[in-house]
Amino acid sequence: MKKLLALALALCLVLGASAALADEFKMGIDAEYPPFSYLDDDGSYAGFDVEMCKAACDILGLEQVIVPINWDTKLISLDNKEHDCVWSGMTILDTMKEAGYVLSFPYYDNTQVVLTKEGNGISTVEDLAGKRVAVQLGTSGEALLADPEGQLELAQTFEGGAPVTMENFNICGTELDAGGVDAVVIDLPVAQNLASRFNGFVILDTNLGSEQYGICFRNGDDELCKKFEDAIMKLVEDGTYLSLAQKYGLD
Ligand code: ARG
Repeated sequence: MKKLLALALALCLVLGASAALADEFKMGIDAEYPPFSYLDDDGSYAGFDVEMCKAACDILGLEQVIVPINWDTKLISLDNKEHDCVWSGMTILDTMKEAGYVLSFPYYDNTQVVLTKEGNGISTVEDLAGKRVAVQLGTSGEALLADPEGQLELAQTFEGGAPVTMENFNICGTELDAGGVDAVVIDLPVAQNLASRFNGFVILDTNLGSEQYGICFRNGDDELCKKFEDAIMKLVEDGTYLSLAQKYGLD
């Protein structure tokens, strides 16, 4: 009996110690961004980025904690240590590197596209003139449309002379469906996801900009970033990356 007790005690100590060892890794996501990060129908977080992060955390012995964030203020909440990274279909921008953030290697190639709805009379980018065009606040799409030297001086020809900014792309989709806006400038996989959920959505066959997704860490977190890069390389090698990409309909 004594032996059994001692064994149980030892087990508790081991379990306790290993629980204490599993550091938390707070993953900052936009929870309205399928197929990369979202809440699924049964209320759990899902998406390519969410599952890749979980798999990487398992390799690194970290406990994944998901922190839903506001996309427009993602770098402020990152600075405030509300989360340890931004990992949610985030485009690597030079401005982020210049500001000292640590960016991982690119893990996904994206293009900016125009999403519209049948009957809106939009089949080319030029047709956007005079239309109401939405974009998510704080995105590369918003920056692209605001860039005076960009190919899209076009934004000035939108109704109101600028895009309508919205908090997330699900709202953009709902508004497009309801006729509140005529088109959305958006990342291709997210446009495809919306098009699979709403009737009559059409993606124009035009590339407004090529870009790459990466994971953003705080200034000084180079080592942490490197650890995740190594874990991701393992997930590429063992086929996890590919099977998750297929699961979430990514090319
Ligand atoms: N890729 C674009 C960007 O980083 C749009 C991202 C929007 N992502 C999101 N999770 N809301 O600016």
